[in-house]
Amino acid sequence: MFALYILPFLVVALVLLLGFCRAQHHDSESLREELEQLQETIRQREKERDSALQELFLRFSEDGKLNKEKSQFQAKLAEYEKYAALTQLALGAAHEINNPLLGILSHLELELNNAPPEGRHEIEQCIEAARRISVTLRSLMNYARPSPLILSKLNLHRLVAETLAFLQHQPMLHGRILENRVPTDLPNIRVDANQLSQVLMNLLLNAAQATPEGGRITVFAERLRSGDSVEIRIVDTGCGIPPDVLPHVFEPFFTTKRGKGTGLGLSISQTYVRSHEGEIQVESAPNCGTTVTITLPLRQPEAAHVEGAKSSEVIIQ
Ligand SMILES: Nc1ncnc2c1ncn2[C@@H]1O[C@H](COP(=O)(O)OP(=O)(O)OP(=O)(O)O)[C@@H](O)[C@H]1O
Ligand SMILES: [Mg+2]
Repeated sequence: MFALYILPFLVVALVLLLGFCRAQHHDSESLREELEQLQETIRQREKERDSALQELFLRFSEDGKLNKEKSQFQAKLAEYEKYAALTQLALGAAHEINNPLLGILSHLELELNNAPPEGRHEIEQCIEAARRISVTLRSLMNYARPSPLILSKLNLHRLVAETLAFLQHQPMLHGRILENRVPTDLPNIRVDANQLSQVLMNLLLNAAQATPEGGRITVFAERLRSGDSVEIRIVDTGCGIPPDVLPHVFEPFFTTKRGKGTGLGLSISQTYVRSHEGEIQVESAPNCGTTVTITLPLRQPEAAHVEGAKSSEVIIQ
């Protein structure tokens, strides 16, 4: 009987307990989900923090690189400014030395005319030395401040033929074969004839000085496929240039001909070629000869005519 009374309470209590347990279970489920979401958010934030740190680090290193480049650039600029000031100074000095030197030279030439035979040799030596100094000074002035271009149409085959004919009689070319392989039908090029002939002379003299008897010096030329430029090649079978010397050959005053060269031939040639918007390159290997390649545009950009120039001549500053 007692059990009959207590049973409904027990059932109610059981139902309540079950309900409570389910509610508890539901609560813990949602808590677990919330926890998982929280953990996911934390992971996300950590990722974001890591990538922000990485970005910051990258910016720092880029900043460092930029600062380094900036200071390198400033150092180069300061060097160029110093170089420009020195060039001006050297130009001024060269000019001031050259003028009185020419006076001394003409005085020495007068002296030579009146000198007794036994005193002539010394005066001739003085004249020779003074001339050499004057030529070096003029080369230096030309290198530092090349004169403006005086352009005219020029037949390259003829210019090479004339230069080779002049050199043929020089003792240093005895026993060497000189060849002009410039096609006679190559279109005329518009250049400063004086500058181009100086370039050719410098390159041919270098080739002659490097080529022993029995060797060959050849000048080739062709119109390039692009049609608007020509390539000139001066090829010799001489001693060639060692790999450690090759990178320096265009530096002013760089020479391996102790006492016999000023080291200005190639640097002046480069200045002249560049002032025609052209390129000059040297390829060489010891004992295999040297090839100097010049690329020149057939035409030069239009510019104003100058007073004193012939009607076909144009000057470019
Ligand atoms: N064809 C060549 N064969 C071998 N060496 C060469 C040739 N051309 C140039 N060189 C090397 O390059 C150097 C620089 O040449 P560059 O013409 O400027 O001066 P240089 O000939 O020494 O003196 P300069 O031309 O003033 O009389 C030469 O001293 C030489 O070592
Ligand atoms: Mg030379």
